[in-house]
Amino acid sequence: MTVTRIWPSRPPGIAYGGDFNPEQWPEETLDEDLRLMAEAGVSFVSLAIFSWALLEPEPGRYEFAWLDRVIDAMAGAGIAVDLATATASPPPWWSRAHPDSLPVLADGTTLWWGSRQAFCPSSPDYRRSATALAAALAEHYRNHPALSMWHVHNEYGCHNAACYCDTSAASFRVWLRSRYDDLDRLNHAWGTTFWSQRYGEWDEILPPRSTGTWRNPGQQLDWARFCSDELLACYRAEREVLRRVTPDVPVTTNFMSLFEPLDYRAWAAEVDVVSNDHYVRLDMVDPADDLSLAGDLMRSLAGGPWWLMEHSTSAVNWQPLNRAKAPGEMIRNSLTHVARGADAIGFFQWRASRAGAEKYHSGMVPHAGTDTKVWREVVQLGAHLRALAEVAGSSVDAEVALAWTWPAWWGAELGAHPSVHLDAAGHLRAWHAALRRRAVTADVVSPLDGLAPYRLVVAPHLYLLTDEEAAALTAYVEGGGTLLATFFSGIVDERDHIRLGGYPGALRDLLGVRMEEFFPLLPGETVGLSDGRTGRIWSELGRTEGAEVRATFASGPVAGSPALTRHAVGAGHAWYLATRLDGADLDALVGDLVARCGVRRTAEVAEGVEVVRRRGPDGTWLFAINHTAEEQAVAASGLELLTGRPVDGRVTVAPGAVAVVRERGGG
Ligand code: GLA
Repeated sequence: MTVTRIWPSRPPGIAYGGDFNPEQWPEETLDEDLRLMAEAGVSFVSLAIFSWALLEPEPGRYEFAWLDRVIDAMAGAGIAVDLATATASPPPWWSRAHPDSLPVLADGTTLWWGSRQAFCPSSPDYRRSATALAAALAEHYRNHPALSMWHVHNEYGCHNAACYCDTSAASFRVWLRSRYDDLDRLNHAWGTTFWSQRYGEWDEILPPRSTGTWRNPGQQLDWARFCSDELLACYRAEREVLRRVTPDVPVTTNFMSLFEPLDYRAWAAEVDVVSNDHYVRLDMVDPADDLSLAGDLMRSLAGGPWWLMEHSTSAVNWQPLNRAKAPGEMIRNSLTHVARGADAIGFFQWRASRAGAEKYHSGMVPHAGTDTKVWREVVQLGAHLRALAEVAGSSVDAEVALAWTWPAWWGAELGAHPSVHLDAAGHLRAWHAALRRRAVTADVVSPLDGLAPYRLVVAPHLYLLTDEEAAALTAYVEGGGTLLATFFSGIVDERDHIRLGGYPGALRDLLGVRMEEFFPLLPGETVGLSDGRTGRIWSELGRTEGAEVRATFASGPVAGSPALTRHAVGAGHAWYLATRLDGADLDALVGDLVARCGVRRTAEVAEGVEVVRRRGPDGTWLFAINHTAEEQAVAASGLELLTGRPVDGRVTVAPGAVAVVRERGGG
């Protein structure tokens, strides 16, 4: 039987909605929900995310009547359903029946039920129960017209990214056997001759549980790989069941932005739609920077448009202090995601809860009702997204790439390193923010993703590099590209073994430098460079071997050593930065690099105005986001879609507002 679904393929226009948990409310609330969803222009809801206890109240007995009623109502209203498999939170009966499946911390502490995600990712019982529930849902709803996407689980690894129990230990050994085949190879990879760690039998190997001092770095690195793979196996098990029953329905699971435990590059290859959750936090230096980076990362992982599955209309409830969003902030956040490639905007959650751990988290319908700032903005955002329908499916212009891999991140964060102040993700953020301030959009890619289209590639702390990745970076430069690598890149191979002969090991020949010793700086300590800039965090001793010196360290124990170098290789150039630059110094270097590489700014804009261009087969759209408190003008001609007004030469953007111009003649 062929089913006619509400979305036969992808959503028409930008999808709009969020997590809908009607089970938290009396039945009659549904009528009001439907009326309000129509008013806001909601086109999708994510259903049943935490409904396992209601869907399977007792082992093997499924109850769908309550959900049937909701899904039928959605179909009647023309609202597409992103149906969850409901496996993120096993009910108490399940945990009680499977006490060996509770997650265990590195120190042996058991995490009990009474919250959510209380399961061990390696538990065969969990895998069996979760896939059975997914199968039951798929069979029951396979022909439902509202079923438009599967939402597997929810935020894998949010609270149980690693479990150190005996079941996990056994799974880790299976994983290691398939990676190394024999114990000698594992012993060599982990460098176990050091500290008498040699393993004589597989059963001696444990997860990296709490120890007296440093744990083996090779073991920790493989453990990080294993933990990501193990949750991915949980996802795949559910996805296979769903694909068998409903091969026409796309499958997603929601990511969590720049989340260290999961290698989302591997995960992205397994989903039909990349979807992401992003929350701004009060402790972020600039929340808009973080949001933009998350968007660029998701677009790069997806290789095109992606879904913003969740963010908040206003306050969250999980920080020490949770402040409501300022007027206009939610719309600005939402449209920035769209600017960076999102084709859907969703929220956690439709109605702010009255009870439970998240009752102080904002929703689309706030506690105070609809005569509120939040509701008016929710309705306004719906109108904006309808006005932007034509943008859906388009790509985003990016001539620069930031090279970033999870294994390099995991490696950089291992302990017993020269300095605890490196902060690989912070370094990525700093470079992304400097490019963004320059009105330059960047993709976030692996060296193996195909670098040739980019005019400039920046590798911030690409600490761990495989031979293949190093070769790809070299080929990129030889072919005419420009690469800038920062210190503590290329230092180790995939086993976390130092690449000998001088730093930065794998990139030494490409960069034309040979470094000998590290001289990290104290917090607040700086070192002057010969070009007047100021280095922070790091300095190092060494010399060039073929590269041209653009700046040296001017003082201190490494005075005279190269700080910034440039090496002509083939048709391109490889730059090396041996310290950290911030603020105006970093901005000036970024300005110099992008000018040399012919990278075009998206538009000439004042500080605090973010501009991004989306490009479709028939045209371009310029998004201008005004983060300042003054009105700003941006050069553009065409039709401003949010107001429907033509613009000729320049568009004015009110303080805190966004303009989207369908450009005449392309950008
Ligand atoms: C995540 C989860 C939601 C909710 C929100 C709160 O995104 O997926 O269930 O807990 O966080 O911000």
